[in-house]
Amino acid sequence: MIIARTKKELNRYLKLVRKANKTIGFVPTMGALHKGHLSLIKCSDNENNFTLVSIFVNPTQFNNPDDLKKYPGNETEDLDLLLRESCDIVFIPDVDEMYPEDDKRIFDFDGIDKVMEGKFRKGHFNGVAQIVSKLFEIVRPNKAYFGRKDFQQVAIINYLNKTYLPDLGIDIISCDIIREGDGLAMSSRNRLLSVSERKSAGLISKILTKYGRKFSGYSVEELRNRIAEEINLDKNLEVEYIDIVDDESLQTVSEIIPGKTTICAAVYDGNVRLIDNIAIT
Ligand code: PAJ
Repeated sequence: MIIARTKKELNRYLKLVRKANKTIGFVPTMGALHKGHLSLIKCSDNENNFTLVSIFVNPTQFNNPDDLKKYPGNETEDLDLLLRESCDIVFIPDVDEMYPEDDKRIFDFDGIDKVMEGKFRKGHFNGVAQIVSKLFEIVRPNKAYFGRKDFQQVAIINYLNKTYLPDLGIDIISCDIIREGDGLAMSSRNRLLSVSERKSAGLISKILTKYGRKFSGYSVEELRNRIAEEINLDKNLEVEYIDIVDDESLQTVSEIIPGKTTICAAVYDGNVRLIDNIAIT
């Protein structure tokens, strides 16, 4: 596995890969890798000749400086994991390498950045778009892999790719959510949970599944309130939002259509903010 820390180094390898007419699959991450990330690497390996993983904790997507400071990371552990996976190149730049000067670009996402995560984490998706567009332009992959765990992020990336970067010709592939045994969506932030918070965290997906699977016929308001009330019963959990949205527009629906509607949740477990979603079937 090749480790590149600068764009120049990375380009040297990528030139050879492109010259050999090999396809490149790209998995952008912020490190603290877990089986969710590894599933994206496996998908990429199945569909491409080369898989490139980036590890970069992108400061511009953190609206809360404390959250950035607390963000977990251990490069040695990440590299150990990647060595055992089918990762061919890992790109680990530092902040100066990615932002030699301030990135002042403001992206317009036609409203899909104004709801849910966008509403509660102001500027978050603009930061995601800044870093992903830079990475896409450096790596110029054939395919790039994202997890549906970050449901709204996938929509933002699709919009970014189609509207701002059409010439790169990248296919965006979205992959299933990987969960722990009790249903908790895997996340780097789960490492920050205490034992008691970790136990509570499992309830989030259990409650979402209960209401998302075998759709019960509740109105949007009823469904939202029931889910929020049940989650809030746990002493560690506090709902930030529950939203029931159209899969395409990401706007709150007026009527639930199984197969086209998703329940999205952001919940504080102690001080740790967790997100999850489940398609209504
Ligand atoms: P990060 O949170 O490290 O996630 C990297 C990728 O892994 C994202 O596409 C995310 O959706 C996916 N992922 C995380 N947990 C998952 C799970 N349980 N199952 C499946 N996929 C999962 O998302 C980011 O980093 C950043 O915003 C990034 C795109 C790298 C830009 O900085």
